[in-house]
Amino acid sequence: MITIEDLSFQYAGGKHAALSHLDLQINDGDFIGIIGNSGAGKSTLTYVLNGVVPHHYTGDFYGRVTINGLDTVETFPEKISEFVGSVFQDIDGHMVASMVEDELLFGLENFNVPHEEIENRLVWALKSVGISALRYRALSTLSGGQKQKVAIAAVLALRPQIIVLDEPTGELDPQSSRQVFEVLKELNERYGMTIIVVEQKVMLLCEFVKRLVVLEHAKIACEGKVEEVLEQSAKLKDMGVNVPRIVSLAEKLRQDGFYRGKTPVDLKSAEAMIREVMKA
Ligand SMILES: Nc1ncnc2c1ncn2[C@@H]1O[C@H](COP(=O)(O)OP(=O)(O)OP(=O)(O)O)[C@@H](O)[C@H]1O
Ligand SMILES: [Mg+2]
Repeated sequence: MITIEDLSFQYAGGKHAALSHLDLQINDGDFIGIIGNSGAGKSTLTYVLNGVVPHHYTGDFYGRVTINGLDTVETFPEKISEFVGSVFQDIDGHMVASMVEDELLFGLENFNVPHEEIENRLVWALKSVGISALRYRALSTLSGGQKQKVAIAAVLALRPQIIVLDEPTGELDPQSSRQVFEVLKELNERYGMTIIVVEQKVMLLCEFVKRLVVLEHAKIACEGKVEEVLEQSAKLKDMGVNVPRIVSLAEKLRQDGFYRGKTPVDLKSAEAMIREVMKA
């Protein structure tokens, strides 16, 4: 479990707080999406969740963050990384090896995964994100999207209790993006992994996550179940958040008196809405 209590953080050299008075509790087995426009503090929030703030990026840190009861300020980053795996927005800056296989092995060996299990984990992780064929390739020869998949596979292989991903599908086409979310869903459901993901593709995100956190100007503007947050679509649009078109349509149909039901969050509920409107 992760608890954030009245957290404020300003980067050393930053002009204003990157996060301001945040309170958030993330329970074991949660699947949380973080959205908000550029500069809202999404990446900084992920850094708070994996200890990169305040250990790598220093600054003024107020409040308290605990991961499994450990205060992140007092806990070594290496210890935090035993629970929390991260996929960073700037992937190139975080690759350590020159070959795909080595990138995965580096983590597996460092985390003392039993020797006889390493091969299985490696094969499974590469297969999960559809890059088995890239195993022996040099990272420098890969496209941005392929590197993104390697970074995701490297974290999956470690099977951490919590995974934090910052725009993991930024370079991926719609099909690969969906594939990544399918894998995350499986990990969440099958192993009860806690998943926290920053994502621009709001519709895709809403289809998979259980809760949404919307950041605006360093603060949590709203937070809750996907449906609850999407119902505030006018507010979200004001914040510059890409509201799924089906949500805007529901809003319009409601305003015009054609629809009174729940805000659709996936294809199934969208279809139900259309059927209801057609029937009327
Ligand atoms: N290393 C840093 N030093 C100083 N200020 C920073 C640093 N990194 C981020 N900031 C500032 O902190 C604020 C939040 O940035 P952050 O990167 O968390 O936003 P974001 O929501 O992830 O944006 P994006 O969607 O562009 O990735 C911004 O005002 C940004 O300029
Ligand atoms: Mg960011």
